[in-house]
Amino acid sequence: MNSRIVISNQADVHPQLLERLARYRGAAFQRPIPQRSREAFDAADELVRRSGKDLILDSGCGTGDSTVRLAALHPDCFVLGVDKSRERLRRGEHQHGLLQGENFACVRADLIDFWRLAHAGAWRLKYHFCLYPNPWPKAEHLVRRWHAHPVFSVVPQLGGRLEMRTNWRIYAAEFAISLALHGVRSNTEICDGAQQLTPFERKYAASGHKLYRLTADLDAAAAQENSGGQRRERTNT
Ligand SMILES: C[S@@+](CC[C@H](N)C(=O)[O-])C[C@H]1O[C@@H](n2cnc3c(N)ncnc32)[C@H](O)[C@@H]1O
Repeated sequence: MNSRIVISNQADVHPQLLERLARYRGAAFQRPIPQRSREAFDAADELVRRSGKDLILDSGCGTGDSTVRLAALHPDCFVLGVDKSRERLRRGEHQHGLLQGENFACVRADLIDFWRLAHAGAWRLKYHFCLYPNPWPKAEHLVRRWHAHPVFSVVPQLGGRLEMRTNWRIYAAEFAISLALHGVRSNTEICDGAQQLTPFERKYAASGHKLYRLTADLDAAAAQENSGGQRRERTNT
């Protein structure tokens, strides 16, 4: 199957990215959280607590292929896949026969709510995968990209090792800039496609796309932020 490369009217990083991110600084994202999101989170929270294991979040898991695969790769962790598409999750259920296994589960929820609830619930992740998020390549859709969305400031606070994969160079570059503005250093490399985790990844790799893999240690960034804060406090006293 041949998949088209991302086509955008943007030649490089969006010229308004920095301005957009500056606008959110210090302002909490206030969109009310619907009851159904709270219920989805509570059900997931129960599963996570019951597992007693370290947590891997597979944000935008689609059909859940990556959730199942990650669960096999990390038997000592509980892997939670979250996607808002009932249709994709159903398709995955048909393929894998289940939305829940010994150390994984897939739930339907909107990440714009779910991430905030996870933060409010003091979740600490071991790994956070964000595999092939919708690129929203039209320049006018900048704010729909995760790194330019007002909810994004919650993501670094969930901790763990973050891994984002995309087939669009500009998305990876912007994601790295947004993380840097949140005090997080990241590294982007081209993946060789050896460890394919998702249907989109398989499709893109088969079509010869370049695949970008961005990783960041959010715990190290938080530790640095804390020690910087303590140093600032000491110098102010
Ligand atoms: C391009 S697909 C990638 C799916 C899967 N990770 C893969 O690589 O095969 C992006 C996924 O993100 C999900 N998604 C987009 N916005 C979301 C949101 N606000 N909350 C939850 N899932 C979302 C979509 O439903 C879709 O399944």
